[in-house]
Amino acid sequence: MGYLIGLDVGTTGVKGVLINESGKIISTDFQEFPLLLPRPGWAEQHPEDWWAATVRTLQNLTAKARISLKALKGLSLSGQMHGLVCLDKRARVIRPAILWCDQRTTAQCQSITRIVGATQLIRLTCNPALEGFTLPKLQWVREHEPANYKRIAKILLPKDYVRYRLTDVMGMEVSDAAGTLMLDVTKRTWSMALLKKLDIPLDFLPNVHESIEIAGKLTPSAARSTGLPSGLPIVYGGADNTCAAVGNGIIEEGLVAVSIGTSGTVIAPTKNVRRDRLGRVHTFNHSVPMLWYLMGVMQAAGLSLKWYRDHFGAVEKAMANYTGGDAYDYFSKEAERVPAGSRGLIWLPYLQGERTPHLDANARGVLFGVTTHHTRAHVIRAVLEGVVYGLRDSLEIIRAMRVPIREIRLTGGGAKSRLWRQIQADIFNHEVVTINVDEGPAFGAAIIAGVGTGVFRTFKEAAERIIRVTDRISPITAHVPLYDRYYRVYCSLYKQLKSSFAQVARIER
Ligand code: XUL
Repeated sequence: MGYLIGLDVGTTGVKGVLINESGKIISTDFQEFPLLLPRPGWAEQHPEDWWAATVRTLQNLTAKARISLKALKGLSLSGQMHGLVCLDKRARVIRPAILWCDQRTTAQCQSITRIVGATQLIRLTCNPALEGFTLPKLQWVREHEPANYKRIAKILLPKDYVRYRLTDVMGMEVSDAAGTLMLDVTKRTWSMALLKKLDIPLDFLPNVHESIEIAGKLTPSAARSTGLPSGLPIVYGGADNTCAAVGNGIIEEGLVAVSIGTSGTVIAPTKNVRRDRLGRVHTFNHSVPMLWYLMGVMQAAGLSLKWYRDHFGAVEKAMANYTGGDAYDYFSKEAERVPAGSRGLIWLPYLQGERTPHLDANARGVLFGVTTHHTRAHVIRAVLEGVVYGLRDSLEIIRAMRVPIREIRLTGGGAKSRLWRQIQADIFNHEVVTINVDEGPAFGAAIIAGVGTGVFRTFKEAAERIIRVTDRISPITAHVPLYDRYYRVYCSLYKQLKSSFAQVARIER
């Protein structure tokens, strides 16, 4: 029996998963690293911390698994998207990496859009300039740290840096390169037209490969550090969102993943490139060759409920502590006591601005429609429902683009609550399903390692071997028209409050 390793270089730490050829998880490990927040809105990390955590994770994974290391067939990587790693000509890190959640680049996004043109930018790269993407970060370094900019010989994304440390080979792969805003997402190569317009040397960028290509072999020195066999094939891998999709079997058009983690995502693969004219959903390359996907991103999905738990959930937290249970289970029980629609209480989940559909960093959370009849239970239910209205926004855009939606698979922490699953079926007016695995992006990376090394012939074969639907939830007929009416109110609220959000942002600045 052969074994595969998937590593996810996330925002809070490195997660490792070691699986066998049937997809059974043999061992997992997670090693945290610090997130640096040097100023409000800034987020950075030291690439050396990623490497140190990777080494520890790999050591622990194999120690826990107790397998013959000779049976390892390959390793692949998933990673947080968009982060800028700047390297000098001797491959030394020039400054801390600037991460996907860093918001310092509004001025650079505006100037990129002005120079390239909003329509042309979407035509060339399939996406608009957003603060999180890599290119605006590079422009920020050029404007604010010219001495650092001058030293740049190559830029990499977070997991690509870790792969470089494992193999001594610098490279990127399409699914992550798509989030740099420098890739011609349609042709799966760097956009020469864009680089020229912005005067960015092609030399800064490594070659782009497909996710399933083998990047290189584990070097003897990386083998000594990690304890893995020297020469182990290292497969390129993918962005965390595509790896999560692969891990959930979302590998063909018609299958859609809806995830409620800290943020919320709706991922819909497409056979051809599809772009939203307004850039409200991202168009990126999938890790499955010649497949693309649309992705709606909500900034504060699970985070809405976590925020409520941290500030108003003392009762549930205490009960959870006392019984050894989970505060979120108590929230679900509480919310079940009140009717669908929370008697007109509506939550706008814009605690950290919003990407899809508003692309508005100023948007704020709102609890609308409070009366004396409302209780804590209504507020909790309204939060659950508001998050799902936000996810429906993404689904509506995808539906309007006529991308088929055959099956909706629910993943992430939000899929653990029976009530939240039912609310999703009701508000989407579509059956939703859950599957037997929910190990996140590291699991998907392990599958990519398997496809890249020939353990699985295709992604389809891997999915058929590993993934099974475990539960199907149909919408409750009586809830559907009610939620439709409230969803219309939900949509109208942002429009009415948009200028007030901007006003508050100006006061706070
Ligand atoms: C996607 C995005 C996030 C990061 C998180 O565009 O910014 O999902 O990939 O790791």
